[in-house]
Amino acid sequence: MNANWAPDTWRKFPVMQMPSYTDLEKLKVVEGRLAGFPPLVFAGEARKLKRKLANVAAGKGFLLQGGDCAESFAEHSADNIRDFFRVFLQMSVVLTFAGGQPIVKVGRIAGQFAKPRSSPTETIGGVEYPIYRGDIVNDAEATIEGRVPDPERQIMAYRQSAATLNLLRAFAQGGYANLEHVHKWTLGTLKDSPASEQYQELADRITESLGFMRACGITAETAPQLRQTDFFTSHEALLLGYEEALTRVDSTSGDYYATSGHMLWIGDRTRQPDHAHVEFCRGVKNPIGLKCGPSLKPDELIKLIDLLNPDNEPGRLTLIARFGADKVEKHLPDLIRAVKREGRVVVWSCDPMHGNTIKATSGYKTRPFDAIMQEVRRFMAVHQAEGTHAGGVHVEMTGKDVTECTGGLRALRDEDLNDRYHTFCDPRLNAAQALELSFLVAEELKKEAASRPRSWEDEEAAEAAE
Ligand code: PEP
Ligand code: CO
Repeated sequence: MNANWAPDTWRKFPVMQMPSYTDLEKLKVVEGRLAGFPPLVFAGEARKLKRKLANVAAGKGFLLQGGDCAESFAEHSADNIRDFFRVFLQMSVVLTFAGGQPIVKVGRIAGQFAKPRSSPTETIGGVEYPIYRGDIVNDAEATIEGRVPDPERQIMAYRQSAATLNLLRAFAQGGYANLEHVHKWTLGTLKDSPASEQYQELADRITESLGFMRACGITAETAPQLRQTDFFTSHEALLLGYEEALTRVDSTSGDYYATSGHMLWIGDRTRQPDHAHVEFCRGVKNPIGLKCGPSLKPDELIKLIDLLNPDNEPGRLTLIARFGADKVEKHLPDLIRAVKREGRVVVWSCDPMHGNTIKATSGYKTRPFDAIMQEVRRFMAVHQAEGTHAGGVHVEMTGKDVTECTGGLRALRDEDLNDRYHTFCDPRLNAAQALELSFLVAEELKKEAASRPRSWEDEEAAEAAE
């Protein structure tokens, strides 16, 4: 355990992007109540995720991380959770089968409520309102009262996270994720999309393989890997009072774990090495993500790695590159080289969403699908050139048929955005676009595998076969 760290030491550091609560007494009461509530996740689960991420860091596996930009109270329903989980499973099956890698599944869900914003206020119809900071803080609807940060919302967010997680656990472990149902995951809005046809073909091949395995005596009854899956949760550790209240000592190891989610990440706007968010995250033992944007210099990255992963523990740190399609080739190589030079073990993941946000002529914030794919391709090409493993993607997506990002096989246009623009914050890939992205990423993974030098184990197997 860290001698000079405690769940509340962040309070002595400068802090960015936190709401200014007016009722501090109420805030204290709420944080006290949260501190008495049961943990949402367990330390052993966070350790399991860390082991899986350690494999990814070693080049054996791929991280799929995704979900809403911001979860909302209004859209909390079994349907939404199921639709998200279903398309996430589809993506993961595509990546496993077509990309040939074990996939580590981490949702931006069951806790992804707090948002960093570029401006503290916004002006609508001549009236200036405090900015919306996520449902855990204030109301998305622009009214003066609704935008006042309300501590009570943290209790709502906790309860919603618990209910969401409960359903996700049932889906992951209770039979829904059984590979024998691989065809059934396509019911619903996705059915007639072009990516869905491609998925059906892949599902046919999986079913055929399962038939062969069954004939060999391996079935979902005998092999649990076929009937259940590991699914983990993550969110940005932004609202530190909430995170502190849910941080607990794990009785097995004596270490502190954040129990609000399995993995926490630090946003691009709150990663100052001498500020509160880094201070909080350095002390909890969960896997940590760090968003890396264009302003991050190599020496600052190494400083952050020193703080967040001083023991160079594999699986502890995932660097999430979010530069934009036009900037990734300029910035990423220097960061990769610095990390390599210093011998640091990390997972490199690509967030192709946050650097590709533009304002459409219609006024909506959007992200062109082509730019998203371009960033992923360039991210992978840079890793290929540097001899490092492109370890994951991090996307904002939903299981619904929304119209928020332009492009994709259905070629959504600027004029279509108005149709079903439902996000509470940033534009998300809809279910069809998310699935399409997974096929394109799988192609890239295949290329990476084909160019990988054969390991001595492969060589030995090849020799033995000769
Ligand atoms: C996000 O992931 O929603 C986000 C705000 O990202 P970033 O910190 O990379 O801007
Ligand atoms: Co976002």
